[in-house]
Amino acid sequence: MSMLITGGAGFIGSHFVRLIINQGCKVVVLDKLTYAGNLENLKDIVENPKTSKLYKFYKGDICNQELVERIFSSEKIDTIVNFAAETHVDRSILSASSFIDTDMKGVFVLLEASRRFGIKKFIQISTDEVYGTAYQDSFRETDTLNPSNPYSASKAGGDRLAYAYWTTYKLPIIITRASNNYGTYQYPEKFIPLFITNALEDKKLPLYGDGKQVRDWIHVDDHCAAINYLMMHGKEGEVYNIGGGNERYNIDVANIIIDELKKPKTLIEHVKDREGHDRRYALDCTKLMSAGWKPKIKFENGIRDTIKWYRDNQAWWKRIKNGEFMEYYNKQYSHRFTSADPQLR
Ligand code: NAD
Ligand code: DAU
Repeated sequence: MSMLITGGAGFIGSHFVRLIINQGCKVVVLDKLTYAGNLENLKDIVENPKTSKLYKFYKGDICNQELVERIFSSEKIDTIVNFAAETHVDRSILSASSFIDTDMKGVFVLLEASRRFGIKKFIQISTDEVYGTAYQDSFRETDTLNPSNPYSASKAGGDRLAYAYWTTYKLPIIITRASNNYGTYQYPEKFIPLFITNALEDKKLPLYGDGKQVRDWIHVDDHCAAINYLMMHGKEGEVYNIGGGNERYNIDVANIIIDELKKPKTLIEHVKDREGHDRRYALDCTKLMSAGWKPKIKFENGIRDTIKWYRDNQAWWKRIKNGEFMEYYNKQYSHRFTSADPQLR
């Protein structure tokens, strides 16, 4: 039997593919290869004969019912882990349409196919953003969802639809809601890789608002290990928060990056804030810890290794930071910067 990993050519998905294949399991990846999907993230798997024999790739859309059903019937899929999504909040504010398609309709197509083909386990990768801002304390799995941007609202739609397939049809669903991931192979539109790569290029680091927003950072390998653990020990029909227990102000993370790369603090520029910006994300992970899992990677070590990886793998991100990326970057940031020197932007 094979595991279907959708969105396996993206940031977290590619780390999860590596983890599962290294355990000797057969993996089928379905990925549309949007701007965020990158087969280079899986190059080591394909080039190693030991791992490549356990790996099969389909380029395609999770919204394509005919393709999804063909994969289910020809590949003997018994487990599906759905990472496929449009994932960047800022892009969802510019245009939400693809978010509604993939993060809601795509989940529906996968759930329907899973029901028809009698899948044994369906892991829906949701996000802590579905809770909205944590004004005080931290969110438990039973708290009300209050998503506040088009990305998190469409993820909440997919999250609840998956749950509905458990309550209605007893499809064996587990839903995970993780906090902010960081690590290698993260597309450089996101905060940490954007700031590292801009700093390496001596460009300005666009810090939204006062930089006092809080995110709880979890290393991508810890996140993947938690999903793997829940696949074996999680209870069907349940939601699990996966947090790093590591809340930080954005400005403090920006300063760590600057210090590690020995760049001047003046590279940080406070710019116009994100619309509807969630001030703080915070998760109560008692349920996951009671099930026997907790994160291992200390932020101080994980962030240092991540910065080093981006410094040592400039070809990977330099190939990305042109064309479509620069078009998006200019649209998102050119009106925000005040720096006169276009080289710095
Ligand atoms: P990413 O943007 O790096 O990767 C997404 C992948 O999905 C890409 O490979 C892309 O090509 C693929 N994809 C997009 N639309 C598709 C479609 N219609 N059909 C098939 N493939 C499609 O995202 P990521 O950061 O790796 O996030 C993966 C999942 O984890 C998402 O569901 C996201 O909501 C969730 N999540 C992310 C974080 C985080 O901090 N990055 C935290 C919690 C949850
Ligand atoms: O919390 C989980 C979520 O984390 C995931 O579901 C999303 O897919 C993922 O993108 C991430 O969302 P965020 O909006 O928190 O991540 P992002 O990297 O875009 O931003 C992190 C913080 O940094 C946020 O407070 C906004 C701020 N920021 C971001 C960018 C891109 C800046 O100050 N400047 C920037 O240029």
